Amino acid sequence: MSAELNSLATIPVIAIDGPSASGKGTVAQLVADKLGFHYLDSGALYRIVALAAQQQKINWDSAEALGTLAKTLNIRFKEGEIYLNDARITELVRTEEIGRGASEVAIHPQVRAALLDLQHSFRQLPGLVADGRDMASVVFSDAKLKIFLTASVEARAERRYKQLKNKGLNADYDKILTDLQQRDCRDSARSASPLIQSLNALLLDTSQRDIQQAVGFVLNAYKKLS
Ligand code: CDP
Repeated sequence: MSAELNSLATIPVIAIDGPSASGKGTVAQLVADKLGFHYLDSGALYRIVALAAQQQKINWDSAEALGTLAKTLNIRFKEGEIYLNDARITELVRTEEIGRGASEVAIHPQVRAALLDLQHSFRQLPGLVADGRDMASVVFSDAKLKIFLTASVEARAERRYKQLKNKGLNADYDKILTDLQQRDCRDSARSASPLIQSLNALLLDTSQRDIQQAVGFVLNAYKKLS
């Protein structure tokens, strides 16, 4: 192992994986804030690829073209905002359509490989909290703490429904439930880095827990390791 890789390995990573709408993004961000760690929202990268492809009229099933596109993207995260080639795209990547696109482009190994270096570059002192589907299994397989954060599909649909309603948007519970079931299926069934609970990951089921309890669980588990 090179000296550089060796020193990278000493920077602690907390990997939080789980299905759509499990609350892992919120939990990961709050844990990072508490510990003063950096935060990687890896799902945002797949969303950005889906959006950039849409803008450049590249189909979400064109594996090679998407892989090339993903390598050339100029992505910047700054103060809660996301920039693509200097254009602010924070809200554009959060739509349900782009979420669906993200799960379609994410099945291609070419896209996943193109995003690896970028994800590794977030590993900086004093530490990193990374959330996604394959943080523990692939991207940070040497993470100090691995969490598989999930909740029943009904609890997740209910949460997403309330989120949309609170924003004053139209929401149809049955459609949200079907969308989540399809997304779960696509994320778990794909051959490239499927969503799975890693062998040594702790299971955190938030069906009956609120965000603060989930954050407490992760911080506690991390403290026990230190
Ligand atoms: O907001 P939601 O949890 O639905 O999705 P997200 O975390 O923003 O990720 C969007 C999509 O990107 C997911 O449905 C996955 O298919 C894909 N993804 C992935 O394949 N690997 C990751 N590490 C993160 C996200």
